[in-house]
Amino acid sequence: MKVSIIGGGGRVGSCAAFALQCGGIVSEIQLIDANQAMAEGEALDLLHGSAFTADQRITAGSYEQASDSDIFLITAGLRRKPDESRLDLINRNVALFVQILESIQKAGMRQDAIVFVVSNPVDILTHLAGERLGLPWQQVIGLGTMLDSTRFSSLIAEALDLAPTQVKALTLGEHGDSMVPIWSASSVNGLPLTEYPGCGPGFQGQIFTRTRGSGAEVIKRKGGAGWAVGIAIRDVIHAIALDQRRLLPVSSRVQGTYQIRDICLSVPTVVGRGGVHQQVELKLWPKEQTGLQQSARALKETMSKVQL
Ligand code: 2OP
Repeated sequence: MKVSIIGGGGRVGSCAAFALQCGGIVSEIQLIDANQAMAEGEALDLLHGSAFTADQRITAGSYEQASDSDIFLITAGLRRKPDESRLDLINRNVALFVQILESIQKAGMRQDAIVFVVSNPVDILTHLAGERLGLPWQQVIGLGTMLDSTRFSSLIAEALDLAPTQVKALTLGEHGDSMVPIWSASSVNGLPLTEYPGCGPGFQGQIFTRTRGSGAEVIKRKGGAGWAVGIAIRDVIHAIALDQRRLLPVSSRVQGTYQIRDICLSVPTVVGRGGVHQQVELKLWPKEQTGLQQSARALKETMSKVQL
């Protein structure tokens, strides 16, 4: 499976490439970037480690050389300033994003290709990609709240001194200020996390607030996320590459679950080779469902302001 990373010379794109290299599942990783030297440098640096890692082709290339890609991963974009919300980024990034879509279309793409958006504001840009590319909606997905869910689970584990891989805590909705913590489905090794000692309402509020602010917390210290977002991207791409049918909180055009439609955000989504296999309306607490619908309203309002 060939993955072309548009923005591969940047922090998120190169961390995603490294996560895919260490995962050893995809067969080809091509880095594309407006800064060609950076794309070449990252590809060379990754290639240098390939003999000890995995049998993959790792290159820097052009849109034309990407036309046979199975997945177009779009990470290119301007980063948020610490005090800037993701949605404030929108018009700065929309113009760049539309150019990227036009370059993909001009160079040609397979009709069964998956377009996987990470650039922010990811839900809005995923929606735009779906509108512009004319692919079936199932083939256009966004990272959504995958990164927030891994941050949420990891921060809970650290605070409660639990094994991180045993903590499952999802957020759904917008990858942004209106994201929703899904405590009703949270668990530690399959047991209800909200019953765990120390995981009461006060703790729940604090840890979710920290999760929601984690992007800004990282930006303030190192300029932007890389490692965790690379891991979140890897999991989605492996679900596609291996047709795993994993249920993931990725963003896609919602088709009516939780009475939401015609906007992209994260609902429980089964992901496989074709991209979205199914969006599933699983029972949530009433306040969680209300939060999801508020998230959809916030995104639709922003969508209405997008200057195309
Ligand atoms: C973050 O939350 C990159 O939006 C991403 O750090």
